[in-house]
Amino acid sequence: MNNTSPLDQYMNEINDLISTELSVMMPEEWDVPTSLKESMLYSLMAGGKRMRPLLVIAACEAGGGKREAALPVACAVEMVHTYSLVHDDLPAMDNDDYRRGKLTNHKVYGEAAAILAGDALLTHAFYKVVQTSRKYGIPAERVLSIVEDLAEYAGPRGMVGGQVADMEGEQGLTSLKQLEYIHLHKTSDLIMFSLMAGGRVAGVTDAQLDALRTYGHHIGLAFQIQDDILDLTGDEAKLGKKTQSDVKQQKVTYPYFIGLEASKQEVERLTAEAKAVIMQGGFSDPQRLIEIADFLMSRDH
Ligand code: IPE
Ligand code: IPE
Ligand code: MG
Ligand code: MG
Ligand code: MG
Repeated sequence: MNNTSPLDQYMNEINDLISTELSVMMPEEWDVPTSLKESMLYSLMAGGKRMRPLLVIAACEAGGGKREAALPVACAVEMVHTYSLVHDDLPAMDNDDYRRGKLTNHKVYGEAAAILAGDALLTHAFYKVVQTSRKYGIPAERVLSIVEDLAEYAGPRGMVGGQVADMEGEQGLTSLKQLEYIHLHKTSDLIMFSLMAGGRVAGVTDAQLDALRTYGHHIGLAFQIQDDILDLTGDEAKLGKKTQSDVKQQKVTYPYFIGLEASKQEVERLTAEAKAVIMQGGFSDPQRLIEIADFLMSRDH
């Protein structure tokens, strides 16, 4: 009996597609140290949820674009995300031993190799984005905007800026406003990028691009608040990472500031707003994006 929902089927399909594409990440003729390939693939194939690739593809399809053309960017964002996790887990940062249900990259390959695997994943992501034009003929002008966005949203004014603010955050000193900056940048930015990039591949209007950006802003913030909640209440086996990591590191989080209940309500409020923006966005097929927002709100891992 098959009782999976259409969204489950959609997510499984995309998961398979992304995993296949990532397993042959680099051109075969490239002469790359075997150990580097191995450590990159170790974290890439460790079993992440592939949320960001899903968003790239769902946004592309919502705007009437072709799934295949969105694949290189979908892989690229998963590489950037995976690099951020490999570095996030390092002893100098969150010092975590488990990720995606396995030992963290540095626990297996050592710190130097983990740093370099992260560097390589980040760099290779840009190579991948360019293939959107080379392989699928998406106009170079649109791909240029995707490259520009990726550098902006993953770099100093984006995810890296957010991670720096996170490292500098201190209980008792950091304000809720500053925590919002941390969450928006360390997490929402890459989610916003994913949605806009999918939209750009499809060639959506400027107004639709704005709707995707706002949707990403809201579900991204909700996603990180939910991550904070799960650090306190989640199941380690399902999460594939240790809980109480934020507590151990004395991190500022939403539950720390406003408590668990209010944090859950904030996730619900942001999700409702995100859905409203998409429903009013004039997309040819907005259904998946709406379902994904609801799915993320109730996620337990
Ligand atoms: C974890 O991201 C880090 C955050 C930005 C909250 P995910 O929860 O998407 O992790 P994976 O990709 O499924 O491992
Ligand atoms: C991670 O935030 C954000 C990035 C890696 C950019 P967290 O430190 O909260 O993520 P987890 O909880 O380790 O997955
Ligand atoms: Mg962190
Ligand atoms: Mg962490
Ligand atoms: Mg966390």
